[in-house]
Amino acid sequence: MLFLITAGPTREPIDPVRFLSNRSSGKMGYAIAQSALEAGHEVVLVSGPVAIAPPAGARVIQVITSDEMAEAVQSQIHSADVLVMCAAVADFKPAHYSLHKIKKQNAICNIELVPTRDILATIERPSRQMVIAGFAAETESLSENALKKLREKKCDLIIGNDVSRMDAGLESDDNELVLFFRNGETLVLPRESKLLLGRKLIKILEQIAERN
Ligand code: PMT
Repeated sequence: MLFLITAGPTREPIDPVRFLSNRSSGKMGYAIAQSALEAGHEVVLVSGPVAIAPPAGARVIQVITSDEMAEAVQSQIHSADVLVMCAAVADFKPAHYSLHKIKKQNAICNIELVPTRDILATIERPSRQMVIAGFAAETESLSENALKKLREKKCDLIIGNDVSRMDAGLESDDNELVLFFRNGETLVLPRESKLLLGRKLIKILEQIAERN
């Protein structure tokens, strides 16, 4: 199967030297990509700017902004069997980009923000069957928020991730995940390395693809 996987943060430019972004390291998405390759699948990895090397064998599309990520995912989705949206796509971007570095003297007190495109919710999907998995990065009410995203973003699976912890989640080599399936089932994958979790996720995604 062809796995289309997104990873890492996006950067939303303010001026030529500044941007809005987040702490995503890309480790979780890259571990899922590595696991899919190990299982014999083809992988297209759409990656925001990260400091780690992509797994050998993945076709990598490097992007910076959420708009670029949306375009890359849209260009690849029609050949994919599984989409895993692991990237921490910025929810907001500056309304205006300054062509010149904003001077300290002109102190920015407010940066006007506008929402970015929600890639997972709005991507034009192929008419044939494919598996769509999203993440829900939460610091509170994980189940409630993840179930809302499962419904609103029309996914087969939402992978809930508590990102308030220091020992797992963002930047860490480890993670702990709670899976929310469309049929109402949930599954906790207790804390372990992102690679071991990636291998478990690939098996689960293969099973969903078989059932579809
Ligand atoms: O990169 P690491 O340091 O290893 O950390 C891993 C992780 C914490 C980033 C990862 O496990 C994770 O939780 N990724 C999702 C982060 C996120 O943006 O979650 P969200 O709840 O804000 O978004 C919900 C879903 O919609 C996600 O699948 C996201 O990719 C997608 N989304 C969000 C915003 C947007 N504009 N477009 C989207 O497609």
